[in-house]
Amino acid sequence: MTRRPTILLTGAGGQLGAELAPLLRMHGDVVAASRVTLDLADPDAIVAAVRGAKPKLIVNTAAYTAVDLAEKEATLAHAVNARAPGILAEEAKRLGAVLIHYSTDYVFDGARTTPYPEDAPANPLNVYGASKLEGERAIAATGARALTFRTSWVYGLSGKNFLLTIRRLAGDRDELRIVADQIGVPNWSRTLAEATARVVSEGMASLEERSGLYHLSSTGRASWYDFARAIVGDVARPRVVPIATSEYPVPARRPAYGVLATGKFQQVFGFALPDWREALRRCAAG
Ligand SMILES: NC(=O)c1ccc[n+]([C@@H]2O[C@H](COP(=O)([O-])OP(=O)(O)OC[C@H]3O[C@@H](n4cnc5c(N)ncnc54)[C@H](OP(=O)(O)O)[C@@H]3O)[C@@H](O)[C@H]2O)c1
Repeated sequence: MTRRPTILLTGAGGQLGAELAPLLRMHGDVVAASRVTLDLADPDAIVAAVRGAKPKLIVNTAAYTAVDLAEKEATLAHAVNARAPGILAEEAKRLGAVLIHYSTDYVFDGARTTPYPEDAPANPLNVYGASKLEGERAIAATGARALTFRTSWVYGLSGKNFLLTIRRLAGDRDELRIVADQIGVPNWSRTLAEATARVVSEGMASLEERSGLYHLSSTGRASWYDFARAIVGDVARPRVVPIATSEYPVPARRPAYGVLATGKFQQVFGFALPDWREALRRCAAG
C-alpha cells in the first residue's frame, strides 16, 4: 500500500487556504498551519515546521495581503511574501518535495490593454506587488520543483474581500460609488482551490514535471464597478455609480489593467476556470 503523502498547507485560515484544506485532505495527510502555529515572518520557524512535517507537498497560501498597509509595513510584507517563499522552496528542494505557491496580477504595471502572458515584463506599482514578485523570483532561484500560480481579485464567503464588503454596504447605503477604470478578473477562492486540488490529484510525478509559473484565473474581464453591479444584482437600491480611481484615493497605486492570459495553464493542465460571472453565480447560490 502506498503511503498517503503529507501536505503542509500554510495560511489555512485565509480565503484560499480554508477552501483548500478539505480538498487537499482527499489527497494526503494535511498539516494545516495558520499564522498562530507558523509565523512566516520567522525564518527559523519555517525551517523547523518543514523539517518537522517532512511533507511531500507544500502549498503556500499564506501571504501578507493588506495592499495599502504594505506601503507602511514593507519590511513585514517582504518577510512574508518574498523571504518566506524562498525558504519554503529551499526546504522543499532539500526534502525532494514540491511547492505550490500563489502570486498576483499586481506584479504588473497595468500598462497593457490585452491579457498578460506569464513572460510579460513585470513592473509592480506598489510594495505588495514588489514583495510578491520577489517571492516568485526567490522560489525560481532555488531550482526547487515548484508551481507558482498568479491569480487576481480573490473573494469568497469568509475573510475580508470585495464581495462581503459590497454585500454589507448594500444593506446600509442608497448609493455605492465604485471605481470603474481598473480592469481585472474576480476569482472565487473555491474555484482556485478546486483547480489546485485537481492539479494535485494528478499525482506527485505530474506536479514535478509541470514546475513553472502559470496564470490561474477565471476568464472574462471586469472593472470593480462591473463586479459590484454583478454582486448587487438588478435592484433599484443601492444605485451603483461608476467613479474614477482619482476619486477614491488610497495609499497603494493599483494597475489599471491586470487581466491574466490563462492559455498556458489550460494547455498544460487541460482545463479552464469558469467565466468570473458564472463563478460568482455559483458562489452566491451557496
Ligand atoms: N486576496 C486577493 O485579492 C489576492 C489577489 C491576487 C493574489 N492573491 C494571492 O493569493 C494567495 C491567497 O490569498 P488569500 O486571498 O487567501 O489571502 P488572505 O485571505 O489574506 O489569507 C492569507 C493568509 O495568510 C496568513 N498570514 C499573513 N501573514 C502571515 C504570517 N506572517 N505568517 C503566517 N501566515 C500569515 C493570514 O493569516 P491572518 O488571517 O492571521 O492574517 C491569512 O490566513 C496569496 O498568495 C495572495 O498573495 C490574493
